[in-house]
Amino acid sequence: MTIIVFGSINLDLVTRTHRLPKPGETLAGISFFTASGGKGANQAVAAAKLGMITWMIGRVGGDSFGQELLESLQQSGVKCDRILIDDTTPSGIATITVEDTGENTIVIVPGANDRVNESDCDRLTDLLPHAAALLLQLEIPLPAVLAAAKKAQNAGVPVILDPAPARELPPELYALIDIITPNETELSILTGIAVRDIETAREAITELQRRGVRTAIAKLGAKGVLCARGEEELFVPAFAVAAVDTVAAGDAFNGALAVAIAQGLPLREAIVWGAAAGALTVTKPGAQSALPSRLTFEDFLREGKIKT
Ligand code: RIB
Repeated sequence: MTIIVFGSINLDLVTRTHRLPKPGETLAGISFFTASGGKGANQAVAAAKLGMITWMIGRVGGDSFGQELLESLQQSGVKCDRILIDDTTPSGIATITVEDTGENTIVIVPGANDRVNESDCDRLTDLLPHAAALLLQLEIPLPAVLAAAKKAQNAGVPVILDPAPARELPPELYALIDIITPNETELSILTGIAVRDIETAREAITELQRRGVRTAIAKLGAKGVLCARGEEELFVPAFAVAAVDTVAAGDAFNGALAVAIAQGLPLREAIVWGAAAGALTVTKPGAQSALPSRLTFEDFLREGKIKT
């Protein structure tokens, strides 16, 4: 079985600061680096590093960033033959600021990601019969997300949607989603419920189920993970780690969740895998470079702590 990721590919321009700037404020940063990112690409790398055959479908620009992004995906073992090099546009980029606590802000300029459309879904067709899951996010246009979800559902392939960055979704999309994985902010934006604790998260994921999603998973950071599937509720506490950079933690969660599901693990265990991959990712700087290898991941799962 394989995993397919349909979504965004970005070059991340990362600045470290002691704290995030306030509106109108100029701050001196501590360091700057570029790294491969994009929520789609990060999820693909997360799954590939955990040993799954993983296909990435999306677009990069015909610039040097595009080449760099493709090379780094290939080095991580992601299958890239279905990524289109779109010479008409620059590659997507993300300007990211990370403060000392590991918290971040991200502004994306979508570039080639914005040109992904329904025609890109054609490159999914022959892969779907062998796929255990299709992973989607919201850094490409919604009509493309919708078309890919429809195609997967018709082929009987489960759809896992990371609704990031959150925005209003077409109502018909909800019924095509098997698993949705918002964080606190995304859950609030999607439902209009101010999510601040387990109680309000429960209310919000129930609302997502009411809209047609089968399984709703709230990624609540240090508060843990709350999941509703039908009438069943699951709670998985967070792993305690020292965060240096929270970028791509959510992507790591989705990649690992999909791998666990592809391997036939029960939902609770799949959520533990997601939480463990997310926890390991926040201990390292960068997006794809911070995602754990299978070996590191298994050690962490066994021991509940990072091997030094
Ligand atoms: O989820 C983290 C990712 O969000 C970054 O890699 C950045 O590219 C943005 O897409």
